[in-house]
Amino acid sequence: MCGIVGYIGRRDVAPLLLEGLQRLEYRGYDSAGIVITGKAAAGKPGALKMVKAKGRVRELEAKVPKRFAGTTGIAHTRWATHGAPSDENAHPHLDAENKVAVVHNGIIDNASELRAKLTADGIVFLSETDTEVLVHLIARAQAETLEEKVREALRHVEGTYGIAVLHADFNDRIVVARNGSPVVLGIGEKEMFVASDVAALVAHTRQVVTLDDGEMATLKADDFRTYTTEGSTTTATPTTVEWEAESYDMGGHDTYMHKEISEQADAVDRVLRGRIDDRFSTVHLGGLNLDAREARGVRRIKILGCGTSYHAGQIGAQLIEELARIPADAEPASEFRYRNPVVDPDTLYVAVSQSGETYDVLAAVQELKRKGARVLGVVNVVGSAIAREADGGTYVHAGPEVCVVSTKCFTNTVVAFALLALHLGRIRDLSVADGKRIIDGLRRLPDQISEILANEDEIKRLAAEYADAKSMMFIGRVRGYPVAREASLKLKEVSYIHAEAYPASELKHGPLALIEPAMPTVAIVPDDDLLEKNRAAMEEIKARSGRILAVAHQVQEKADHTIVVPKNENELDPILMGIPLQLFAYHTALAMGRDIDKPRNLAKSVTVE
Ligand code: G6P
Repeated sequence: MCGIVGYIGRRDVAPLLLEGLQRLEYRGYDSAGIVITGKAAAGKPGALKMVKAKGRVRELEAKVPKRFAGTTGIAHTRWATHGAPSDENAHPHLDAENKVAVVHNGIIDNASELRAKLTADGIVFLSETDTEVLVHLIARAQAETLEEKVREALRHVEGTYGIAVLHADFNDRIVVARNGSPVVLGIGEKEMFVASDVAALVAHTRQVVTLDDGEMATLKADDFRTYTTEGSTTTATPTTVEWEAESYDMGGHDTYMHKEISEQADAVDRVLRGRIDDRFSTVHLGGLNLDAREARGVRRIKILGCGTSYHAGQIGAQLIEELARIPADAEPASEFRYRNPVVDPDTLYVAVSQSGETYDVLAAVQELKRKGARVLGVVNVVGSAIAREADGGTYVHAGPEVCVVSTKCFTNTVVAFALLALHLGRIRDLSVADGKRIIDGLRRLPDQISEILANEDEIKRLAAEYADAKSMMFIGRVRGYPVAREASLKLKEVSYIHAEAYPASELKHGPLALIEPAMPTVAIVPDDDLLEKNRAAMEEIKARSGRILAVAHQVQEKADHTIVVPKNENELDPILMGIPLQLFAYHTALAMGRDIDKPRNLAKSVTVE
């Protein structure tokens, strides 16, 4: 949510920052801006030069004048929180003398109080943003150095921030600070970068330093230092980012969504690699930090996540119950953290997040840790806030996911849960034979995913068939229900067609009233012990003249159309059954001319409440 990029060095900064913003655009895309320090004339500091534009980065790019030279600058792409998307509300924000520029991710909670005080002192605000208070606080701070000015300003501020600050009088540096919103330094040769996300850095350097909450840094062209907001120096050793610049490219696809759907066989192969232990029919998850004795002591598992990750957690809970026979359930982290939950010492908590930064999930983890709970993370982004806050966990190794709607990361997260469930199961009551059965099933997944993806033309045809629907129902039972929920979320996020998901068993208790020819149903119909029950639900729909698209292991007579998917073990079927429906949502949205990678009103990582 919102992207920050900054550069100090010897190269022409504007093209570098604009390219960085393009890479970050998936995080926010309603307005963008750039500020650079111009060349200093003899004896005078270089003035700040700024351009901002409502809309996408390409609109900003069109507004940047030809002569916009400089070698230091910061830039931002926004997802509006305080104030509507507009040129004025776009970041950077400047003080009245055009000396201080700030870009900010996060939310300043006491912004209205601070704004009232500053206004009473005669400051005129040019935007409706919370960020602008920071600019004025820095400009007014009575301090010698830029670092002290920023520190002084931050003392007045409550809330979350990742900020980058430029000052015309201190134009040999960029000062950055982090509290709750990611800030990553990119270490180059005689040049330094800063960004809210490694996506903007990897084309230039893979040596990075991730700031902790409460940390600040000063970047100069040829060095950097990190320190706390209180001023004591911290040690920061650069680490190497594994993801390569090419993984952020579209790789011949027209959208990231299509690319990421297509990558799933390889991604699943990656999450399995090196983890299977055939000797004991189990898996090794090196980072769990949970020994066998501790694992046996777990009485309950609570999984927390948001959006697609929450749905992956629902399938994860079922896998854990089925394979490890530990009571497990998933809950939206956003709900959990506000209901004063009972935190039980025998419960193992699992936080799920692609980005590892979703604020509601992070806040739930912090609350749990404060109460002494043990929390594992199932996370995609290595070194992200949730990964670092958790006591242990596992990475899902999906590679970078750029499209706002999650596809390959969902699939890999569910596979990671299957591994966790198998590991816990084999420590408890799961037999060697069942362990082997699940391992064999896991190994079949990549080829079966390729088989599903090879059916794309047929799915595209079916998407065209149903694209006239104003609203769609998704149903599934037990294992199929979270698949239905995720498929319905996918469709509404990317096509804006209204969709809702119901357990097939609940249809007759209300939603059946909606069924008519204009309200088609997608039914998840695995070939398991509930097959007949699912057929009965389809019968009820047909009797009300409802159209049905089934996703099943064999052609369903009651359905108007069936997408047949390969059969795996019953427990693992949900991993495969959602994949054709990702393509279904994609092709529906494509046919409707939607902006597939950047759906309206959404952002990839929601790092604010
Ligand atoms: C946002 C995105 C969703 C995503 C959710 C959780 O709402 O638009 O696609 O599922 O955040 O993100 P996370 O990074 O925690 O998995």
